[in-house]
Amino acid sequence: MPKKIRLGILGGGGDSLIGVLHRVAAFINDNYEITGAVFNPKFEDSLAFAQEIDIPTNRIYKDFDTLVEEEMKLPKEERIQVCSILTPNFLHFPMAKKLLDNGFHVICEKPMTTTYDEAKILQGALKKAGTVFAVTHTYTGYPMARQMREMIKQGALGKIHKVDAQYYQGWINPIIHDPEKRKTTWRLNPEKAGISSCMGDIGVHAFNMVEYTTGLKVKKVLCDFNYLYDDNQMDVDGTALIRMGDHIKGVIRASQVATAEENGLAIAIYGDKAGLRWEQENPNFLYVLKEGEPMQVFKPGHPYNSKLSLDGTKLPPGHPEGIFDAMANIYLGVAKAIRGEKYNDGEFPTMLDGVRGLNFIQSTVDSHKKGNVWIDMD
Ligand SMILES: NC(=O)c1ccc[n+]([C@@H]2O[C@H](COP(=O)([O-])OP(=O)(O)OC[C@H]3O[C@@H](n4cnc5c(N)ncnc54)[C@H](O)[C@@H]3O)[C@@H](O)[C@H]2O)c1
Repeated sequence: MPKKIRLGILGGGGDSLIGVLHRVAAFINDNYEITGAVFNPKFEDSLAFAQEIDIPTNRIYKDFDTLVEEEMKLPKEERIQVCSILTPNFLHFPMAKKLLDNGFHVICEKPMTTTYDEAKILQGALKKAGTVFAVTHTYTGYPMARQMREMIKQGALGKIHKVDAQYYQGWINPIIHDPEKRKTTWRLNPEKAGISSCMGDIGVHAFNMVEYTTGLKVKKVLCDFNYLYDDNQMDVDGTALIRMGDHIKGVIRASQVATAEENGLAIAIYGDKAGLRWEQENPNFLYVLKEGEPMQVFKPGHPYNSKLSLDGTKLPPGHPEGIFDAMANIYLGVAKAIRGEKYNDGEFPTMLDGVRGLNFIQSTVDSHKKGNVWIDMD
């Protein structure tokens, strides 16, 4: 049995949304142990949370710089090997850069950075470091999202001509109409969130799913944003037309003010032979659409699925697995990469996906600002 990988956690305190998802995901396949952390900006809060979840407090540090400094003093076989960055967006870049420069592996939340320029700097830092870098586009970890990728790779759709990805949430609707609340929500503050709210936070997931499932690259983007109040002009809604090649076109629709929508990520890809549709809120169903035939529904765990999909399923068919399992699949892929084991490149999103994400976000912002014009992506 290989030893557990020593994991550091940055952000993701008891007050956070995403922390529990990473902690549980790291635990699910028995590959990691939380060795050190800075869960919160206040040391007392970090310590109290470590005690609450019953992890040793001797490597809970007062801040990120101290974590790196103290860990670097330890022998390599005791040092944290990989850090998960789960803070608000503006801290991803400085933390990831310093971790890479000191030879750590990194698991970074999306969007990877707040600007495209920062993303390219990180890419350079990773080249020098030669470590493992994952970006947690969680939805790629679902067995049926993986199945979609593999079926498209095997040519199930024929020639793709239409792509439609939607990510609709409504949680900013009650916030945006309150002048005080819209001032204090970090996702609506460009200094903390970056150059975009809606596209940066969720549109980027939809974009990633488009490239992940099709294996194609978006080449051009034309985007229209919406904001609701002049004193906060961060986008809370946006629609991007995309072109992926000759006669391969589509749309990425994202909203944080789609009233009462919950986590409505859905993706449909259509080709000349068939179509595939998958919805995050019902992740165990992949719909296969064929002209003149009844719709088929693929489900996880059956031998008709690809190896990549089956590797992401732990229980026999009919035992629903969800978002914790999807993130756990990403952590499993990262563990294989850290241990130098073989893995499929569909097992976790990488630096390249992080850079593509920022290229997309920047292109949507530029397109909107220039009067809704087509922007070439790199
Ligand atoms: N992959 C996904 O599907 C997904 C879902 C939600 C959020 N996210 C991403 O995860 C990140 C965090 O989002 P969230 O919703 O959990 O935010 P949040 O505001 O709920 O939590 C942020 C956490 O970071 C801590 N923190 C802030 N500054 C810190 C510092 N200097 N040092 C240490 N900890 C610090 C806070 O105390 C808090 O515990 C964001 O980048 C977000 O985009 C990803």
